[in-house]
Amino acid sequence: MNERFLTWHDHSLNQSNHAAQKQQSPCLIWFTGLSGAGKSTIANGVALALYERNKHSYLLDGDNVRHGLSADLGFSDADRVENIRRIGEVGRLMVDAGLIVLSAFISPFRADRKLVREKFPAGQFFEIYVRAPLSVCEQRDPKGLYKKARRGQLQQFTGIDSAYEEPQAPDLVIDTANCSEQECIALVIEFMSRKGLLEYTVAAQGGAV
Ligand code: ADX
Repeated sequence: MNERFLTWHDHSLNQSNHAAQKQQSPCLIWFTGLSGAGKSTIANGVALALYERNKHSYLLDGDNVRHGLSADLGFSDADRVENIRRIGEVGRLMVDAGLIVLSAFISPFRADRKLVREKFPAGQFFEIYVRAPLSVCEQRDPKGLYKKARRGQLQQFTGIDSAYEEPQAPDLVIDTANCSEQECIALVIEFMSRKGLLEYTVAAQGGAV
C-alpha cells in the first residue's frame, strides 16, 4: 500500500452526545447463522420492537447490503472476509452516530466476527447465534438456494461446500427450530433489556456533555 498521509479529526460531537440526544445506548447486535436460520426475520422483528419502544435502530441485512455496499463481492472466502470487514466498519460508524445497529449476515468465519467485536468497547457489541440444524434450513429453503446448491447449480454455498464456523462463546443463542418467531424476538428483547441496552444511562455512555 502507498504511504498515506491521513489525519484523524476530533469532532465536536461524539458518541455520548448522539446517545444523549437519542436517549439510548448505542450498540451493534450481530446475528450470525446459516442461510435460512432466521437471522433476517428475527432481526427485522427486533427492529420493529425497538421502533415501538421509540428506539432509533438500523438493520443491516446481508441480501440488501450485497446489492450496494458489497455489490462487487461474491462468496469466495476472501470476499466474505471483506464483506464482514465492511459491515463491521459501517456498523462502527452507525454506533458512533448513536444508533442501535442490528446486522444479519451469515458471517461464517470466527476470526472475522472476532475482528468486528474488537472494534467496539465492552458492552457495545453482542453476538447472537441464530441456530438451526442444516437439515431444517435446507427444508425451509426460502430462496430455493439449497436446492440449487445440491444440484450443483450454485457453488460455495454455506453449509454445503463452504464452511460455517459455529460461535464458541456467543452472547446469546436462539434456537429457531424450537421457538416461534415471536418467542425468538422476545428472547432478544429480553436479552437487550438484561444488558441495559433499552435504557439510557449517562454513566454507561461515558458521560454526556
Ligand atoms: S456472508 O457469508 O458474506 O456473511 P451474506 O450474509 O452477506 O454472506 O449473504 C448471504 C445471502 O446471500 C444468503 O442469505 C443467500 O440469500 C445469498 N447467497 C447467494 N449465494 C450464496 C452462497 N454461495 N453462500 C451463501 N449465501 C449465498
